[in-house]
Amino acid sequence: MTETSPAVKTPTLPDSQTVTAVTHWTDRLFSFRVTRPASLRFRSGEFVMIGLMGDNGKPLLRAYSIASPSWDEELEFYSIKVQDGPLTSRLQHIQPGDEIILRPKPVGTLVHDALLPGRRIWFFATGTGFAPFASLLRDPQTYEDYDEVIITHTCRERGELTYGAQLIDGIRKDPLLAELIGEGFHEKLRYYPTTTREDSPKMGRITDLMRDGTVFADLGVPPLSAECDRAMVCGNLAFNLEIKDMLEGYGLDEGANSKPAHYVVEKAFLD
Ligand code: A2P
Repeated sequence: MTETSPAVKTPTLPDSQTVTAVTHWTDRLFSFRVTRPASLRFRSGEFVMIGLMGDNGKPLLRAYSIASPSWDEELEFYSIKVQDGPLTSRLQHIQPGDEIILRPKPVGTLVHDALLPGRRIWFFATGTGFAPFASLLRDPQTYEDYDEVIITHTCRERGELTYGAQLIDGIRKDPLLAELIGEGFHEKLRYYPTTTREDSPKMGRITDLMRDGTVFADLGVPPLSAECDRAMVCGNLAFNLEIKDMLEGYGLDEGANSKPAHYVVEKAFLD
C-alpha cells in the first residue's frame, strides 16, 4: 500500500527532508520517498546517513543506500523493519508529510568509478541489498559501459522480491525511463531472482547456484572471468564474505574508488 502526501510542508529540523510516499512491501520491508536537498549530488550506488531525532534529543542515524537514480527529483530508500531496532522500529511508522534527518554527504564503494572497463556487469544482491542496484539499474552509464547487465536477487520469500521485480518491470515498460536510460538497454538487462525458504521458479542461494553452474547454464553465459566480468555485491555479511571468496576464485580483484579493479562489495545496512 502506498501513501502519498498531497502537500509538502516546510521542514523545521536542520538537515531534514519531508517524506512524500511510503510503501509497505511485506511485514519486514518498506520503501519511502523524501524530498531531495537542492544541493545534493550523488553517484548511483552511494549511501547517505538518514534517521530520526532520538528521545535524548540526539539524531539517530544509519547508513542507507540511495535507491533512486541520480536524475530523480526525489530520493528513495528501501528498508528492513526490525521490531526492536533502534531506528527502524520507529522509521517504519513514518507517514507522508513527516520529516526525517538526512545528512547530504553521499559516499560508498558500489560506484562505476571503482571498476575497470569490462563487457558484463553482475549485480549480486540479497534482501535489502537490492537498494543500491535500484539506483544503478536506472543509471544510463550502466548500459553505456557494459554489453550485458545481470542482476541477481536472493531473498527468503517470494514477497521480498516484489520491490525489485516491480522496479525492473517498470524499467522495461516505461517509455520515458527507456528514453532516459538509453536505447538498447532492454536486450542488455537480465534479472535472476531466487528464494531460499519459499517455493518460487528458482530456488536456492545464488552462491550455491553459481557453484554448481546452474546460473551460468540458465543465463547462457560462461563463469566469471577477470577479462570480461565486473561485479558489485550488496547483501548480508555472510553472503558478502562467501561471494567475495568466490569472485577471488574466478580471478577477480577487489576495487576501490582510489584503485579501480574487477569487483566491489558493500554491506546491506541493517538496524
Ligand atoms: P537462507 O534463507 O538460506 O539463509 P537475510 O534476510 O537473512 O538477510 O537473507 C537474505 C537472503 O540471503 C536469504 O535468502 C538467505 O538465504 C541468503 N543468504 C544468507 N547467507 C548467505 C550466504 N552466505 N550465501 C548466500 N546467500 C545467503
